[in-house]
Amino acid sequence: MTDWKNPPRLFIPGPVKVNDDVLQQLARPTLGHRLGEYTQLHSETVTMLKKILFTEQNIFLFTSSASGIWEAAIRNCVGPDETVLCTMCGAFSDKWAGVARSCGRDVEELKVEWGQATLPEMIDEKLASGKYAAVTIVHNETSTGLTNPVAEISEMLREKYPDVLVLVDSVSGMVGLPSRFDDYGWDVAFASVQKAFAIPPGLAVAAVSDRALEKSKAVPGRGYYFDFQAFAKSAAKNQTVTTPAIPHIMALNYQCERLLSEGMENVWDRHRKMGEFVRAWAKERFALFCDEKYASNTLTAVKNTRGINVGETINAIQEKHNTVFGNGYGKLKEETFRIAHMGDITLDELKELLGWIDEEIG
Ligand SMILES: Cc1ncc(COP(=O)(O)O)c(C=O)c1O
Repeated sequence: MTDWKNPPRLFIPGPVKVNDDVLQQLARPTLGHRLGEYTQLHSETVTMLKKILFTEQNIFLFTSSASGIWEAAIRNCVGPDETVLCTMCGAFSDKWAGVARSCGRDVEELKVEWGQATLPEMIDEKLASGKYAAVTIVHNETSTGLTNPVAEISEMLREKYPDVLVLVDSVSGMVGLPSRFDDYGWDVAFASVQKAFAIPPGLAVAAVSDRALEKSKAVPGRGYYFDFQAFAKSAAKNQTVTTPAIPHIMALNYQCERLLSEGMENVWDRHRKMGEFVRAWAKERFALFCDEKYASNTLTAVKNTRGINVGETINAIQEKHNTVFGNGYGKLKEETFRIAHMGDITLDELKELLGWIDEEIG
């Protein structure tokens, strides 16, 4: 029997488990969003996010989930008569291409098989035609547990296609995986906070380059809720356009302080260690779904080579230990299962969970 007031501990790849001290931040007294206390909270949070994302450019806080920024990035950075190259390697990158199309943009697809990475040379071959205003890339494909080689892709783009805007969904990558926004030359990179920031869902964060902001000025039909120009105007006053999810921003502020005191290199290293541990377990008993070279350090998609009943295993562990991990996403349900190792999940907790899975599968 499910009981939402006594929910399982979450090892699904988002939302992930949130620590009690983080939850408590959401219960602080509320602030008036046009008053000094909020501008102080906003300013502090943005200053820390700039350090965390390695950028001196713009940070915007979105009271929406990350899907809103899929739309925002397209509506602000790709003109109605321009073409965007959408790289696709799994369910979420596929969805973004659909969102771009739903915004009325001309979309060209660059598809690889699920579980494979998108490589710089593939993008290079497409961009050589010169017809693209922007390219979309999913940093970490949550459906397949794959991290695209974004450092290499970014280097190629910077050298050969400096005029093409680089739009990056880093939803399950941000904070857990190395990335340096300004060095990479990215134009928009975003995540929702229920992944490696380890905060309940309800807020998303984006870094936006100055040139993306400049470009958006001339793009018609940006709409209201996701207009970068309006965001920039409010951000200059350390505010948001509409009433933001203030409790979430308090929790984000708290998590940013923790991340910076740990140091980003250490945070990435902690994720790498968790990734290595879960991959070693998965390879001994099953196999990895994706090409191991690109296996993610924030979640593992395990290929169900033993034909276990994934749904039943998840239910059994929930019943006995009030803990859940993730079934495969979409068409990969039962064929794979997914274990998150991001945010405030610890190696000890992972050991415990994997031990319980071992007990179930025998
Ligand atoms: C890679 C990726 N992009 C986008 C999304 C959509 O994010 P949200 O649910 O916050 O809108 C998800 C959600 O899991 C995701 O994993």
